[in-house]
Amino acid sequence: MAEQVKPYGSSMGKKDEVEQMFDNVSHKYDFLNRLLSVGIDIQWRKKVVKIIKNAEPKTILDVATGTGDLAIALAKQNPQAQITGFDLSAGMLEYGRKKVKEKDLDQQIEMIQGDAENMPFEDDSFDAITVAFGVRNFETLEKGLKEIHRVLKPGGTFVILEFSQPQRFPIKQLYNFYFKNILPVIGKTFSKDHRAYTYLPESVQAFPFGEKLNQILKSVAFKNPKNKELTFGIASIYTSTK
Ligand SMILES: C[S@@+](CC[C@H](N)C(=O)[O-])C[C@H]1O[C@@H](n2cnc3c(N)ncnc32)[C@H](O)[C@@H]1O
Repeated sequence: MAEQVKPYGSSMGKKDEVEQMFDNVSHKYDFLNRLLSVGIDIQWRKKVVKIIKNAEPKTILDVATGTGDLAIALAKQNPQAQITGFDLSAGMLEYGRKKVKEKDLDQQIEMIQGDAENMPFEDDSFDAITVAFGVRNFETLEKGLKEIHRVLKPGGTFVILEFSQPQRFPIKQLYNFYFKNILPVIGKTFSKDHRAYTYLPESVQAFPFGEKLNQILKSVAFKNPKNKELTFGIASIYTSTK
């Protein structure tokens, strides 16, 4: 089981703390994503979209959709598909819904609030499911993954985009310095949340990546999990099927 790192270390459970944290940072979330990743996050999401497009799904669930960047990118490249964005944080969804409306995609994308570990969908509902930078924040990783497996159709495609840990010199050293010393200061200055951008490197450090995450996917019955490193292993894409 993955080690549990919580944003605030309060008496609340991880789920409540995560919801509160994303509500707190939602007003600066997109801005900070672009700034802190120098725009690379957009390229990473494009790779997820390409994999999903090849599967030609008619229904897509984007779990932990946040402000909807991946749901919107999926909608543009899969005009045939109906997309559901699903997230715990009302604050993040509020910005997401605004963006969806501005882009005239509200007929194609529905945004629903709820918990990925207990979703209000029937078994075998979606042709494809994506999660970008979400699984690391689940209170119980295996529970969330099992729930995703339950609502995915047999033969359906599941894609995770998540931070991993670069292993090679000098990227590992440079990246760790940036991630642990520079990113938290910039994040705190703009978001005004004293913990959100310290929780980010801490949660990445504690989260399984590469073969370990593949093994967890296998243990909850996903078939043929494969990982691909992006940008020297700063992030990885995990693909599997049901
Ligand atoms: C880092 S953001 C990622 C947002 C978006 N996918 C992206 O790529 O920008 C993580 C999101 O996961 C959501 N989240 C965390 N735990 C969740 C859960 N148990 N159920 C649903 N959403 C969850 C948070 O509310 C937050 O919006």
